[in-house]
Amino acid sequence: MLLTGEEERMLSGAEGRAVGKAMQLIVALGEVFGAEKLVRITSAQIAGVSYGNIGDAGLELLEDWASAGARVRVKATLNPAGMDLERWREMGVGEEYYGKQIRIIKAFERMGVETTCTCTPYLAGNLPSFGDHVAWSESSAVVYANSVLGARTNREGGPSALAAALTGRTPLYGFHLDEGRRATAIVEVGAELGSPHEFSLLGYAVGMRMGAGVPFFEGIKRAEVEDLKILSAALAASGGIGMFHMNGVTPEARFQDTTGLERIHVSAQDLEGARERLSSHGDPDLACIGCPHCSVKEIAEIARMLEGRRVRAGKGLWVWTSRAAYDEAKRMGYVQAIEAAGGKVFADTCMVVCPLEASGFSHMVTNSCKAAHYVPSTSGIGASVRSLESAVSKVLEG
Ligand code: F3S
Repeated sequence: MLLTGEEERMLSGAEGRAVGKAMQLIVALGEVFGAEKLVRITSAQIAGVSYGNIGDAGLELLEDWASAGARVRVKATLNPAGMDLERWREMGVGEEYYGKQIRIIKAFERMGVETTCTCTPYLAGNLPSFGDHVAWSESSAVVYANSVLGARTNREGGPSALAAALTGRTPLYGFHLDEGRRATAIVEVGAELGSPHEFSLLGYAVGMRMGAGVPFFEGIKRAEVEDLKILSAALAASGGIGMFHMNGVTPEARFQDTTGLERIHVSAQDLEGARERLSSHGDPDLACIGCPHCSVKEIAEIARMLEGRRVRAGKGLWVWTSRAAYDEAKRMGYVQAIEAAGGKVFADTCMVVCPLEASGFSHMVTNSCKAAHYVPSTSGIGASVRSLESAVSKVLEG
């Protein structure tokens, strides 16, 4: 692989042991994928933050790199941690877990990473421009960045995104190149998509059908931020999809030549099939909303839904969001409205990366296919997927 003088210097360890190791990782990755050179990045989104996911080995590595003086060279933000950094006790998280999670956050802080702890960095200040090369490692955010923002990132893992942040480089292959971003199949949407939940079902159904590739959606008249972020999450959950185009909506759709591509039709029955596949038997006792993290608009919608209503005794309504959205929603009174009705709004974490089993609940209902896909395996809790209204009403009185 062709390296510049500066990159050779980093690789040699002349800029510090941690930078040397980071550059080794980047170069090895590039060689595996046949990259001819590296490209400068403008931002990183780093996953692998939850103590439950990375454990003691991950914690020790991060502290080692932080102690070795490693510092990020570009804007770098963090994925959700394993707990609400302030209200962890209310989630049932123990002292030892808390202590180690805080050490992880501090190690990232020492390396200069912004401890945003959200999977929606594009709503929290990490907003790359069209055409920017970035290294993001949250699968839903990768799809959003490539598709909606027109930024360029591969599906990085936590270590490779951190290594990219420390070197300011990533290997030039895959979604960084024009040919990696071309549509590979046309998806004709024959179902009405009236809410983010339906976009989530669509993403899950298409991910299952295609597995990989770049879908080109036709027949969707309108999509808002909330629709696009939940669609992105579902596409990456059921398949290995890292990018889509949507006719009339996403910025690179108009440059696609779709002549001769395979056509996939998705009907209302396909969406129903995705819902059934993700729903196990059981009476939900916990409604979880916020995968990906809720926007302020979504928190406001939940608050409105709870007017004059209460969460039933023995049931829970947990809403998950970023610290930035939480603070704004609190200023607007939405957090107080949800909590006055018996719900909880947690920041910094989510139902998948926190130890949800510590909550004491046994069956989660959600509007997000990604959450329903992962929660049974990460916490052993049953899952069902429904519309937002239906999921919330499952745990309310009356
Ligand atoms: Fe975000 Fe957690 Fe879902 S990281 S996309 S809320 S699984």
